[in-house]
Amino acid sequence: MTQPRSVAFVASERDGVCPFDPSQDLRRMRETDGLPRMRVVHPVLGEVEAAVVTRYDDVRAAFAHPRLVTGNGIDPDQPRTLYNQPGFLLAYSGAEHARLRRMLTGSFTLRQVERLRPAMEAIIDEHLDAMAERGPVADLVADFALPIPSLAICELLEVPYSTRSMFQRCSQVIMSGTTSADEVLAASTELHEALADVVARHREAPGEGVLGTVVRKHGAELTDEELIGFGTTLLIGGHETTATQLALSVLALLRNPEQLAALRDDPDVTATAVEELLRHLAIPAPVPRMAMADVEINGQPIAAGEYVLMSALTANRDPAFVPRDPDALDLRRRPVTQLSFGFGVHQCLGQQLARMELKAALPALLRRFPTLRLAVPESALRYRTGSTVFGVEELPVTW
Ligand code: HEM
Repeated sequence: MTQPRSVAFVASERDGVCPFDPSQDLRRMRETDGLPRMRVVHPVLGEVEAAVVTRYDDVRAAFAHPRLVTGNGIDPDQPRTLYNQPGFLLAYSGAEHARLRRMLTGSFTLRQVERLRPAMEAIIDEHLDAMAERGPVADLVADFALPIPSLAICELLEVPYSTRSMFQRCSQVIMSGTTSADEVLAASTELHEALADVVARHREAPGEGVLGTVVRKHGAELTDEELIGFGTTLLIGGHETTATQLALSVLALLRNPEQLAALRDDPDVTATAVEELLRHLAIPAPVPRMAMADVEINGQPIAAGEYVLMSALTANRDPAFVPRDPDALDLRRRPVTQLSFGFGVHQCLGQQLARMELKAALPALLRRFPTLRLAVPESALRYRTGSTVFGVEELPVTW
């Protein structure tokens, strides 16, 4: 086993020169046999020693392993936190996770997601109009990328769109990885209270969105705390992730003008483009698991109690998985089973929704502003590296 190193590896895993690319450290790990143990700083785990999994086959096998779990389950005697909130799906494993997840899956099929499309397209147009009116400079993160998933979340929970600024603020603080424990606690409490009101309303008169549907079908099997946890899962799972993917996709396209033109001018490219941007950007920070028993990942041992971190970024760029130019952004690439939505029982529940949002938003933006470009030198951009998803703080653009 490789000796643990000092805390060299902040789990942002990005290259110092090009933040879209895996760091040299991670590339070296992928080329070396075995799973190195590293001391890492991770947004969810804090500072721990973990086995780092970087190759595509290994990451996929680790995601699928039934004894590598996301957490120890809910402990009612411990204070409430994100991972100790009843109903927060990522806190569960095994039969209990499957039971809870089944209650939500029906609301996230392609058909259900398509029902949100008209509202999504309207909000996209509205924000493009507002940008055009106020322009010719905008912050693509605040003015476009965040408002779109905000609408999706508000529609799912059936709360007024005006609630979005509170949702945005709270989920940003909770996901950031760099905010203080007090700030996280305050944001979690505020969110919990707001969602408790939402749940109370659905208990009284269940609506047609996700929470209302769950209350109608499974209300008797669930406590209010679990319903609040469902709301938290959707909010935390679907907000910053999609916004970040949207903003970084635009940045990646601006750095690759020929690819940008292909997406803007050829509607047939949209589907493969979104898949390739997901593969290429791989925004989740290495995804954590804990070994509940001694296990093996493709013959490589992990001892019970060890932490494991799985890098979707290095997996998606693994030459053994994508032999032709894996680091290049090629929007016409035939889609592959990329791991940016994870894999196995916790695989992203909202992936069809995220795809729909991206497919609607990206071409609409590029067609409305065909001369879109950065309003600042690229070197002035500040990246968010300590969070559970890699992102850019602001993206000033002009046209
Ligand atoms: C580009 C956008 C997104 C990315 C990259 C993303 C990524 C992920 C990843 C990697 C996981 C697995 C985590 C793990 O295995 O520990 C996950 C789980 C999850 N995601 Fe997403 N996600 C996105 C959008 C969404 C949206 C729009 C929603 C819903 C509104 C959502 C809801 C969830 C939920 C509920 C889970 C937990 C599933 C479970 O534990 O069974 N995500 N997501």
